[in-house]
Order: sequence, then structure tokens, then C-alpha cells
Amino acid sequence: MNKPFYDPEKSYDENYEQGPFGDLADGVDLRESFDYAQDRPKYNFLGFKINTPFGIPSGPLLNSKFCKAAFEKGFDVIHYKTRRSIEFPSNKHPNVLFVDVEGDLTLQRAKKPLIASKNTEKDAKDFSITNSFGNPSPQAQVWMEDMKKAIESAGNGQLLIASVVGTIQAGFRDDDYHKDFAKTAQFAMEAGAKVIELNLSCPNVANEGIVCYSPGAVLNICKKTKEKIGEIPLLIKIGYFSKEQQELLEGIIKSILPYISGISAINTIPAKVLDADGNQALPGEGRLTAGICGASIKWAGLDMVKRLKQIKKKLNADFAIIGVGGVMDVEDYLEYRAAGADVVQSATGAMWNPKLAQQIRQKEKTKEEIISQFSPAAV
Ligand SMILES: Cc1cc2nc3c(=O)[nH]c(=O)nc-3n(C[C@H](O)[C@H](O)[C@H](O)COP(=O)(O)O)c2cc1C
Repeated sequence: MNKPFYDPEKSYDENYEQGPFGDLADGVDLRESFDYAQDRPKYNFLGFKINTPFGIPSGPLLNSKFCKAAFEKGFDVIHYKTRRSIEFPSNKHPNVLFVDVEGDLTLQRAKKPLIASKNTEKDAKDFSITNSFGNPSPQAQVWMEDMKKAIESAGNGQLLIASVVGTIQAGFRDDDYHKDFAKTAQFAMEAGAKVIELNLSCPNVANEGIVCYSPGAVLNICKKTKEKIGEIPLLIKIGYFSKEQQELLEGIIKSILPYISGISAINTIPAKVLDADGNQALPGEGRLTAGICGASIKWAGLDMVKRLKQIKKKLNADFAIIGVGGVMDVEDYLEYRAAGADVVQSATGAMWNPKLAQQIRQKEKTKEEIISQFSPAAV
């Protein structure tokens, strides 16, 4: 297996200071060498021209060094890691461990604990991990400065999306908490972000819960944020909604249609994570349950993309769908696109395979060449 560009052996702070690692960090800018048709970029996403509708979701790209390296390797739609309005520490190391899931991590399977370890025997396409950071954040001025640099490193046909989350602070009522999402989004706008995502689905934050399942909170947060960011397209990142929660999902989407331009799905699937001796694997309070991502959650991401597409049709609505979860190779990307994802992103897969964007570009190019042989005008 390749060395991942986020090194699980190191702390979050060490990764922030020293990363990225492995082949993502070799300094080679592949963008010049991509042999593309003259009319690139060709995909339209939220009004931005994009080379390839593929990239990395919020999380593994900790700062501008990571973002620049990802752009250089052809990840065209990338997120800067979720940021807060105030400085916030990371959960204790370890933050990333492999977990032993065979096949799909269904909701039924996720009710039983998973066993975590530092290594895996699995093939690069088949493994899953837990990630548990608690949304660490530098002070706003610090990340805003750095986000500016990250945005500047985007090439032609590339887009950086800012992800933000609210922070419960002493004396806060719900409305203050919701306003804090809006305030953080405003900071991202001031840093130059062209698209902003509200992280409504992080399972690792002890006090704050997963807001995407609370219709009132989602509506208030979206409304308050849109008031602050005006014309800037707003996305929400949500977790998996079970079939029984379909009505809830539909109701939430209907209520926020005036404010959002797109939905990213999914974040992780929460499960209890133990070590080989049956003890809590991740140290600290509130960390027995952690988010699982990688190959075993692809079923859930794909299912959500299909259901979002159905909702879009039913409501006659116009919002972009960003498909995330278990995209480990080119075939997974194609499956998501076929299911209705406007953009596809990979966190776990990309971390261990920095060539994934290059491989997808190659596949897209081959497809275009085949189409152009039959109908030159179509490409
Ligand atoms: C190292 C790591 C850090 C993450 N941090 C965040 C984050 O800050 N904000 C967020 O919305 N999602 C975060 N995620 C979740 C991913 O964006 C993604 O939704 C999830 O990992 C599923 O995709 P995957 O199966 O390709 O990993 C993180 C994931 C990983 C692997």
C-alpha cells in the first residue's frame, strides 16, 4: 500500500506542520502534462468551470500545503478542512485507525462494535478506517490567511470549497450556536471562498450532536448563513438518512431550498470502535463511537445520491449533488456519476492513492476520445 498523505502514525499537529507526505508531496505539478482537448475546462458546477468533477471532501486537506499539492495532482474540486470561528484542539492521537469490516457497513452491522488496528491486510480498494478529530481549528485569522493561499493555488478549472461548523460556547443558546455557523461562513467568505459548505454531520463532537437530523436547526443555520454570505453558493454536508428517515430528509430539503445550492452526502457512519482487547480504541471522553469511512460505506453514499436525485425530481428542485463515501478507484467514481452525482469526492481512497485523480482524468479522456470518433461535435 502507498504511504498516505496524512500520516496516521503522527499527531494531527505534526501532520499540519510537516505534511503532506508520500507521493502527493513529491512537488510534481501534473497539471501541465495532462493532455486534454482544447476546450477544457468543460464541466459546469455551480456556475464554475471544472476540468474533472472529482476531488477530495473536507477533512484530509489540513491547510494550504495539502490543498496546493492536491490541486497539482489534478484533484479539481477540493475542500479545505472544516474550520471554526474560534481556536479548537484536536482529539488526542490516534485519530485514524483501520477497522475490520467485511463487505458493507450496514446500519445493522454498525450497531455492533468494530475492532480497530494500526495495520490492515486488506487490498487498497477494500479497507475502511475510523477518523476522529473533533473538528480542530486554528484561530480564525490564522486559517483565513492560510485559506487565501489555498484558494490562490487553484489552477484553471479547479475549485476550493470552504467547510465550516459552529461551536457551542459558554452561555450559548441554540440560536447563538446557529449564528456561529453563519459567522464562520462569513469568515470563509472574507478569506475569498467561492463556495461554502456547512458541516452538519460530524459525529465526533461530544456536545454538539449531529445537527443534520434536526429540521429546525438545519433551517435556522442555513437561513442565517445565507443572510451573511449573499450570492456565494451554500452547500450542506449531511450524514446517511435511513429509508425510514426519507420523509424527514425530504422535508428538510424542501424547507432549505431557497438557501442552498447543493448537498454533499455522506459524512461517515458512526459505530463503536474497540481495540483487540475489547477496550475503547480512541482515547478520551465521547470517543467510543467514531465515524467510519472508506470502502464499507460506499453503499450508503451511493444510496443517498440516488435518493437525493429522486427528491430533486419530485420537488422539481435545482441543487447539485456531491457524492462522497467509499470511492476507492475509478470504477467507484463512475458508479457515483451514473447514480447522479454532479461531483464525486474521495477522502480515504485519495489519502492512500494520490494518483486517483490522474487515473480518473485518463478514463474521462478515453471516454471522450471514443465518443469523438463517432460524433466529433459531441465533445
Ligand atoms: C482524515 C479525515 C478527516 C475528515 N475530516 C472531516 C472534516 O473536517 N469535515 C467533514 O465534513 N468531513 C470530514 N471527514 C469525512 C469525509 O469528508 C468523508 O465524508 C468521509 O470520509 C467519507 O468519504 P470516504 O469514504 O471517501 O473517506 C474526514 C475524513 C477523513 C478520512
